[in-house]
Amino acid sequence: MSDVFEITEKDLLGRIGKLYTPHGIVETPTVMPVINPNLRLIEPRELKRYGAQMLITNSYIIYRTERLREAALSKGLHEMLDFDGPIMTDSGSFQLSVYGSVEVDNPGIVSFERDIGTDIGVPLDIPTPPDVPYARAREELEITLAREAEAKAYKGDMLLAGPVQGSTHLDLREEAARRTYEIGFDIYPLGAVVPLMETYRYKDMVDVIVRSKMGLGPDAVVHLFGAGHPMMLALAVALGCDLFDSAAYALYAKDGRYLTVDGTYHIGQLTHLPCSCPVCMAHTAKEIAGMDDATRTRLLAEHNLYVTFAEIRLIKQSILDGDLMELVERRCRSHPRMLSGLKQMMNYSAYIEKFDRVTKSSFFYLGPESARRPEVIHYNRLLKNLQVSGKVLITTRRDVDSRGFDRVFHVKAPFGVFPEELSESYPIGQSEVIPELDCEAREAALQNIADFISSHPGTQFTFAYDQPWECQSIERLAAIAGLIRLG
Ligand code: GUN
Ligand code: ZN
Repeated sequence: MSDVFEITEKDLLGRIGKLYTPHGIVETPTVMPVINPNLRLIEPRELKRYGAQMLITNSYIIYRTERLREAALSKGLHEMLDFDGPIMTDSGSFQLSVYGSVEVDNPGIVSFERDIGTDIGVPLDIPTPPDVPYARAREELEITLAREAEAKAYKGDMLLAGPVQGSTHLDLREEAARRTYEIGFDIYPLGAVVPLMETYRYKDMVDVIVRSKMGLGPDAVVHLFGAGHPMMLALAVALGCDLFDSAAYALYAKDGRYLTVDGTYHIGQLTHLPCSCPVCMAHTAKEIAGMDDATRTRLLAEHNLYVTFAEIRLIKQSILDGDLMELVERRCRSHPRMLSGLKQMMNYSAYIEKFDRVTKSSFFYLGPESARRPEVIHYNRLLKNLQVSGKVLITTRRDVDSRGFDRVFHVKAPFGVFPEELSESYPIGQSEVIPELDCEAREAALQNIADFISSHPGTQFTFAYDQPWECQSIERLAAIAGLIRLG
């Protein structure tokens, strides 16, 4: 059990939790806006107005800038930034990865983070980029792990993060997660995923998150380092990420870019503003586009924060309602590469299902990906435990003559078979498939029926079906069951 994290609600691998920090309790999932201590686009104390509970800044930038270093050491980080909520500080790792060397070592930066009163500090990990040779990822990972273990001696009362590295070598990610978890940290950032997100490699991002989760305990607070675009938050939360940090709101604003949950627009492309935040209600797109650089950047940053936290609130409501999967499916249809992220998530359904809650709100079938949802896998796994013997009839229609059979099952797409006594309960009783999508959902149901039949070898099955069920997969059933075509 984590000393600093309490999980209160769950859906898929996502959760709502309370993170206890020296400066108060944070409700997760949440995004930490990134504050550049040199140029404060938005004053830290104003951030709460947009929904932020906690912020993140860079201890290395503070350390390296004499004026900031002296102020942070004498007044403390919170007073220097004028923010009384929790603050996380990153180390100089990113600068290290870009510039090759930094003028501070691991004990030095961790001690500095402690001395300025950071709530959560980060050691000097090595953010190994994607696709590097295995040997390099392994070598850098060993250095990261050694520095993380070393950092514990310098942390004082500060909470400490243990970044998980390993590049795109998934066995290394899983090993890194397991070994980091064994050392024991307060939060676990998944590192070096920024290059994946910048190139829309959401499929790889899903792999990295899930394989890291497999190595971490379920009580681990997971931070997706450098992720904060509202489009991908639901997906990442559903995979078990609790914390995000966003420089996107500010960096995108400087480029004139306007964030939405469906992607990014350039403010110059927009005629209408699809948002009702205070900024968008007070201005037209044309007005914002025509403003001086500083004002435009400021307004876009404000809007970007508003949409980011609106999405966080929607995600939390979806977890409470048990329909996070529907939100993820909707969000993942806004970009083809997000859709490949969703498809990859469905490849992990059997894993996700083990941690998922048992009852949810109605199951909405939204397309072929829905047929592979953890809920469908979960249902069929439980069904395999059902004891059946003798002669069994599986029928798509209720008005059939079932004399001579020991047992009758009905059929619901995309789940497969169900006994009468489950017809009212979740998920059979609360699932909706519209007629236009029936065919692909039936195809999935036939596959599940075939698996069900195959897992009960001593039983003699007959499948009675009507015309709409004449799909491709009926052939698979012909080999393992008697078929009756209902007229
Ligand atoms: N910011 C974005 N990615 C990383 C990372 O991998 N490590 C650290 N320390 N900071 C980051
Ligand atoms: Zn807006």
